[in-house]
Amino acid sequence: MTPGIRPLIAGNWKMNGTLREAAALAEGIRAGLDRSPDADLLICPPFIHLHVAAAAMGWKPVAIGAQDCHPKASGAHTGDVSAAMLADAGVAYVILGHSERRADHGETDALVQQKAAAVIAAGMVPVVCVGETEAQRDAGEAESVVSAQIAGSLPPDFAIAKGVVAYEPVWAIGTGRTPTEADIASMHDRMRAEVAARFPGLGEGTRLLYGGSVKPSNAVAILGLPNVDGALVGGASLKAEDFLAIAAAVPAP
Ligand code: 13P
Repeated sequence: MTPGIRPLIAGNWKMNGTLREAAALAEGIRAGLDRSPDADLLICPPFIHLHVAAAAMGWKPVAIGAQDCHPKASGAHTGDVSAAMLADAGVAYVILGHSERRADHGETDALVQQKAAAVIAAGMVPVVCVGETEAQRDAGEAESVVSAQIAGSLPPDFAIAKGVVAYEPVWAIGTGRTPTEADIASMHDRMRAEVAARFPGLGEGTRLLYGGSVKPSNAVAILGLPNVDGALVGGASLKAEDFLAIAAAVPAP
């Protein structure tokens, strides 16, 4: 953790589930929240499940997020969803530049930066994902890749809008493998230095999440590392009890 930063535990549901399952998962999280966790909580369902998940969550303090948006405010962009539409639907955060979108849709740092600017303009918080592939790590390029992604993907008003950066090594996503604690800590130190240098006086307070095979059994160790201000959770966020167990692993302030 970073002193003075309230952690964020975010669930990225990716492209999973039915309407009924989305409602049941949100309801399971709502019902299981018997005390306020020491973190902000966020669930990011698929677009078409945002509404039922938000309705099932009711008044509980769990924010609703989306997994992408288009950089333009409106217009002839078949199949896309704008930041303004998401804000209008009650969305508070938008995940951007996930490695699956960078790989599946060829998203570049420049496009991610435009999307983040659109999210901020619509009054929401961008969660910008960065992370190296296994080949890049093996080649000793992990830190330079992540630095370049941070430099290219964050718009100028990112820190003032309380934007979040998530470090997700591509090879750790959905594989059950994670970097060593020392490797996570050293990457997050480097990320902290980069955002602090880029946004003087504000980057020190930017939330830096770790994502990639976070589960209840490794959450205490990961969330206890310096400059790890929360987690972006994929597979384990699809089970209410696992998501809540990860939230409960946040160290007390
Ligand atoms: P897993 O937790 O399933 O590895 O996914 C991580 C992720 O991609 C979250 O955005």
